[in-house]
Amino acid sequence: MHLLVTGGAGFIGSNFVLRVREVRPDWTVTVLDSMSYAANPASLAPVVGDGPGDVRLVVGSIADAAVVDPLVAEADVVVHFAAESHNDNSLDSPWPFVESNVVGTFTILEAVRRHGTRLHHISTDEVYGDLELDDAERFTEQTPVNPSSPYSATKAGADMLVRAWIRSFGIRATVSNCSNNYGPRQHVEKFIPRQITNILEGIRPKVYGSGLNVRDWIHVDDHNDAVIAILEQGRLGETYLIGADGERNNLEIVAMLLELTGRPADWFDHVDDRPGHDLRYAIDSSKLRAETDWRPRYDDIRAGLAATVDWYRANEAWWREAKVAAERTYARLGR
Ligand code: NAD
Ligand code: DAU
Repeated sequence: MHLLVTGGAGFIGSNFVLRVREVRPDWTVTVLDSMSYAANPASLAPVVGDGPGDVRLVVGSIADAAVVDPLVAEADVVVHFAAESHNDNSLDSPWPFVESNVVGTFTILEAVRRHGTRLHHISTDEVYGDLELDDAERFTEQTPVNPSSPYSATKAGADMLVRAWIRSFGIRATVSNCSNNYGPRQHVEKFIPRQITNILEGIRPKVYGSGLNVRDWIHVDDHNDAVIAILEQGRLGETYLIGADGERNNLEIVAMLLELTGRPADWFDHVDDRPGHDLRYAIDSSKLRAETDWRPRYDDIRAGLAATVDWYRANEAWWREAKVAAERTYARLGR
């Protein structure tokens, strides 16, 4: 099977490529990535090359039909991770989100329609908006779309385009909406790696607002194993929610990181809240578990965070440059 992996040099996409190399070594992988600020060439360096079994890296935009079309034509499946992914950036400058997430997904859809290539579209639980802290309900495949930020609105728009292309044009596609990922190779602008690298540098973690906001954390390998399960066992035309029952509020995550790194429990600061900050996400992944044999392997978030801290400690060269740029942006935003 020949996979075209868009966004394969970013956080989840690079972990997906490395995981596929490990568990499905007979699959051929081409990565299409624009190598934006969010991509890190070091993530794929161990597997990229010209030899048999190596991953081919094509640098280009998913919004560029001339680049996308021939790559889609030669692939059996497109696994579409590429997106602008950070909420804070979308509040600061929304256009790149419309271009990559909406125009880019449209461009992929037109190419798969033309060539009959299968598509798996990667999306987020954020398209469903947020829940109250005491809400008994969790998100399901039936939850109405209700995005809050420019990022989540563009992801919801992309999901709607995929569903329309399935219904109107009969393309062979599946969609997954996953909760918050953590693990190695995540950009240091995101919450967990930002706080880990702050602590490693002797800077106090920064918690937006009250810190009571809840995210449903899942290890990136569990997300990617679910994507492989959907590719192999999912039904065409369907949407699957991916989650690992990992609800924690931001204060609980910071407390674990401080404990793991030997810092006092009160060694963090509250900073200005994110505008429109979603309160809580929570996923009901019953459908995925009923229709595939996927089960999360990382059921101990403390152990998963400990391994993630170790990874950032051991890989400073991977994050050093991005850290300087990310903190310059946060300083400008006052967070
Ligand atoms: P990321 O920002 O780490 O990586 C995104 C990658 O896409 C980068 O390598 C970037 O260069 C590439 N990219 C962006 N625009 C592009 C374009 N126009 N053409 C080609 N490549 C482009 O993001 P991530 O956290 O790895 O997220 C990957 C996907 O998973 C996204 O679709 C995101 O919405 C979704 N998702 C993320 C999470 C999470 O917790 N991070 C959870 C659920 C879903
Ligand atoms: O739910 C899935 C989504 O998870 C993905 O679709 C997005 O691509 C991904 O970025 C993530 O979105 P969030 O906005 O939830 O993640 P982020 O890491 O930016 O923030 C997680 C929580 O931590 C959120 O409540 C905001 C808070 N936060 C974030 C940062 C960067 C802080 O308190 N301090 C910080 O410094």
